[in-house]
Amino acid sequence: MGDKLLVIDEGTSSTRAMLFDRSGQGLGLAQHAIHSEFPAPGWVEQDPEDIWQLTRAAAGAMVKKAGGASQVAAIGITNQRETIVFWDRRNGRPLAPAIVWQDRRTADYCDKLKDAGHEPALQAKTGLLLDPYFSASKIRWALDQWPQLKDAGDNLAIGTIDSWLVFRLTGGLHISDATNASRTALMSLTGGWDEGLLDLFGVPKFALPEICDSAGQLGATLADHFGAPIPICGIAGDQQAAAVGQGCYDPGDTKATFGTGTFVLTLAGDAPPVSNNRLLSTIACQLGGKRRYALEGSLFVAGSMMQWLRDQLGLIGTSAESEQLARSVQDSAGVCVVPAFTGLGAPHWDPDARGAILGLTLGSNRAHIVRAALEAVANQTFELQRAFAADGITWSSLRIDGGMAANRFLAEDLANLLGLEVERPGNIETSALGAAMLAGVGCGLFGSLREAAAAVRGPIDRFIPAPDKGGRARRIEQWDRAVAGVRAIA
Ligand code: G3P
Repeated sequence: MGDKLLVIDEGTSSTRAMLFDRSGQGLGLAQHAIHSEFPAPGWVEQDPEDIWQLTRAAAGAMVKKAGGASQVAAIGITNQRETIVFWDRRNGRPLAPAIVWQDRRTADYCDKLKDAGHEPALQAKTGLLLDPYFSASKIRWALDQWPQLKDAGDNLAIGTIDSWLVFRLTGGLHISDATNASRTALMSLTGGWDEGLLDLFGVPKFALPEICDSAGQLGATLADHFGAPIPICGIAGDQQAAAVGQGCYDPGDTKATFGTGTFVLTLAGDAPPVSNNRLLSTIACQLGGKRRYALEGSLFVAGSMMQWLRDQLGLIGTSAESEQLARSVQDSAGVCVVPAFTGLGAPHWDPDARGAILGLTLGSNRAHIVRAALEAVANQTFELQRAFAADGITWSSLRIDGGMAANRFLAEDLANLLGLEVERPGNIETSALGAAMLAGVGCGLFGSLREAAAAVRGPIDRFIPAPDKGGRARRIEQWDRAVAGVRAIA
């Protein structure tokens, strides 16, 4: 058996395959952009067949790079969470577009359920809130609106992206790891699919996957795909995988991933945490049937704002240019960007809020707007820090990762605004590293995640906060007013 680990990292904006050796060294990367459709305001869809074909192509390229399937010890899968796929289990063909986690089409339906008083019970069971972000309301909408789902009868299969990829990779295995399943709002944090929630959302249990561990002998690919079967030994949602890759195992360990959105997880231990401040309780990992939990703050926009500045406004040519522009001015000159493009996530959970650029004067230029956009990422992270603190969790440091963590301006701004040491690993693709670690544990290359972390984690960059001269309080005050403003006009 080979000892290379193949990771499939299917994110919102791109699908990637990466090859690692057992010391965590990256040996290769293949990547394809994933196209999103926006068929109506607030709607976001993707083509599941496209996701599968591009993922398979990327994985195939990495198997070739490894020297063939026999050189690969195991596959680890990590993925955008909550996005939901519908297919026919007889032939694996998608029955409809995937409804992406960013999609807000079920905002009214979620409001109705909230008004009917369902949120407290849903929160107690799932750790989540009644928001269109989670899969359950999207499934209800699809079952109502797309008759082909009902027509499929018992052959209907429903799953998050991990399930969809595993089904196609294995030729019919229908599973989902507990971290992904916990994001559907249909699974109890301490059990399986919850009958009460299945009833509430009208979701047929037969169509859902079996919930499994995040590491172990979970399945094997069809020989057709890569020349010989390869075991699938790790699966986790991308944010949970990032926490694994950051070595967050002990209660209090905190990571923030700046990908398409920003997702902060603080490890909580082996009992689900309870939030009184609109944070989420979620499963960090399930190994040997035992669950570890985390408290999560989810923000919907981070890297997607850089894409927007580049593709819609043409203010930057590349994401990297944003750093140079932000540093070209002393401050944002009073400009404030609220990136509520798809509503606001934690702690507001306001699907109707929309983005705004405030504080413009005739002297405002593109550097001010770009700087304000970058500062918005730290401002929102500050809001999470405040909500976590209100829940009794004080961050002692923040481990950052994800594509946008490459931006040193952002890392320094975070340290200064949060008043915290910010740690950034050499390899900022920690979701992929975490999936490799899970796969390595699942196939027996490593005895435990801690052993895997010791083997694969490299050097760390540290950003120390500068002394605050009062700018911090002023900035937060302006931010709070700006957020209240966009919510008021929504
Ligand atoms: O919950 C959504 C999250 O999993 C998306 O991650 O990396 O595409 O921002 P990403």
